[in-house]
Amino acid sequence: MALPDALVADLKRMIAQAEHPREAAVDVMYALQHHYGYLCDEAVHYASKLLGMTTLELESLATFYDYLYRRPVGHYVIHVCDSVVCWMFHQDSIFDYLCRTLGVPPGGTTEDGMFTVLPSACIGNCHNAPTMLINGRFYNKLTPERIDAVLRELRETTEEPVRCK
Ligand code: FES
Repeated sequence: MALPDALVADLKRMIAQAEHPREAAVDVMYALQHHYGYLCDEAVHYASKLLGMTTLELESLATFYDYLYRRPVGHYVIHVCDSVVCWMFHQDSIFDYLCRTLGVPPGGTTEDGMFTVLPSACIGNCHNAPTMLINGRFYNKLTPERIDAVLRELRETTEEPVRCK
């Protein structure tokens, strides 16, 4: 499938602004992920051609970063912090509650394609532990009641996701 001209121009600009094309690899993959909805094989091949890198090199980057999705994800991707400060604030029970409420295992996507739940390394919001990041927006000091309210709010909104950059 041909990419929109505007996207191709953006990708080429990102690469031209980098000292070496590989510096732009993650940004290029994010932009392609935003276009395709996840980082599919076609996107990796396209990035490989543009950047002059092997698909293996890109694969190693893509599988390292929590915010690059090599499998299809839901409309909302819920990154639940799975690091030490959030652990101290009962992150485990929050994570369990979220998975049970949505009826998915960690890493799973709800049947309606609305939510994917992923554990993530510290998301840099420790002072609001326990916390989660959904399509680029933080949700703080989580409790089961707060999670219920957030899920309800997201189900009622149809806004375009803000993808992480
Ligand atoms: S440990 Fe959870 S945001 Fe840092």
